[in-house]
Amino acid sequence: MQKGEIPIYEPGLDVLFDRNIAEDRLKFTTNIVEGIEGAEVIFLALPTPPDEDGSADLKYILGVANDLGPILKDYAVIVDKSTVPVGTAEKVRAAIAKNATVDFDVVSNPEFLREGVAVEDFMKPDRVVVGTTSDRAKKVMERLYAPLVRQGNPVIFMDERSAEMTKYAANSFLALKITFMNEIANLCERVGANVDDIRRGIGTDSRIGKRFLFAGIGYGGSCFPKDVQALAKTSIDYGYDFRTLKSVMAVNADQKKKLLPIVEDYFQGSLAGKTIAVWGLAFKPYTDDIREAPALENIEALLAAGAKVTAYDPEAMENVKKQIPDITYCHTAYAALDDADALMIFTEWPQFRTPDFAKMGKLLKEKVVFDGRNLYELNTMKEHGFTYYSIGREA
Ligand code: UGA
Repeated sequence: MQKGEIPIYEPGLDVLFDRNIAEDRLKFTTNIVEGIEGAEVIFLALPTPPDEDGSADLKYILGVANDLGPILKDYAVIVDKSTVPVGTAEKVRAAIAKNATVDFDVVSNPEFLREGVAVEDFMKPDRVVVGTTSDRAKKVMERLYAPLVRQGNPVIFMDERSAEMTKYAANSFLALKITFMNEIANLCERVGANVDDIRRGIGTDSRIGKRFLFAGIGYGGSCFPKDVQALAKTSIDYGYDFRTLKSVMAVNADQKKKLLPIVEDYFQGSLAGKTIAVWGLAFKPYTDDIREAPALENIEALLAAGAKVTAYDPEAMENVKKQIPDITYCHTAYAALDDADALMIFTEWPQFRTPDFAKMGKLLKEKVVFDGRNLYELNTMKEHGFTYYSIGREA
């Protein structure tokens, strides 16, 4: 980053990055003293990976909190931006207080942006949640966020524990919403209904809402899986049996593997010697992030079953290569289809939505598509002579 390079792919980030460096507002350092010089607000945006037991590992956050105490020179607001379990703000405060010689406040300020639309989500948040009981910190945070909430979206103040809990509740609820639709989809397949229609039919009810109702091959990414697991662990720690969370985790694990038996059945029980084309490796479009991506688990299973895989993703191939070197990575989506026996789709990149179906049909050895993201209309696929399996719609 000191060289002016962004190590991840995130649309729109380059513009902000370059402009703010050029205007001398943005600098990078690995020196903590330099990093906080003159800062009124210090954001802790550190990773909280899952521990062996599923709880969030706080070593990075508390490590920095320990380092901060002795070097604070003036009052500052220390902001927990990372997703951290209930009670972390208190731990951070205690770690800093051990060695601090000046006043400071610790506030919890969870982030709700999505990868792939991070800049837009951050600039125009539905709401900003700030957990603090300090009036002084509250004023600083109000001033900080004022430019981002001009359209009247609220900054919601609450105590720290509630703010920490809000983040887990939001992600877990969204994961639950998706998982519920995935189960409705599974049932639709059995009763002969179409999950797209159900989505439209229920999403128009403002109490339910249109968003995050898309059934598919399961949720992935660095947030939902980790946060649902961490909230389940918190529940256990506090002696509460959070049954819906347990179901969400179990159903999602199965959903990610949902297409494999269908592919195997199609090829009479054996994938040995078959070549399967894969479109989409990232856990969602507009990102190169492959953490908990359904594609990876499926590719591993295809390889274990003796299949060959030819893959294409617009952004994520370099990352996958590091984990799964021995599949064929292609320069275009069509190249992946050349001589493949079937196509599987795991990410709804927009460029996969309107392909040249005739070309697809010519390249594939068999005109069969297993679509984990419901990209195509059933009629369109029928007209083009494809055998088409998707999620929650008739085959
Ligand atoms: C998620 C939340 O949406 C953000 O609000 C939150 O700030 C972020 O986690 C975080 O905790 O940092 P993100 O993981 O970037 O954001 O991506 P989402 O857009 O939420 O998608 C997560 C997964 O759900 C993806 O695998 C996606 O394909 C899947 N999904 C999403 C569905 O299967 N169906 C849907 O209708 C929506």
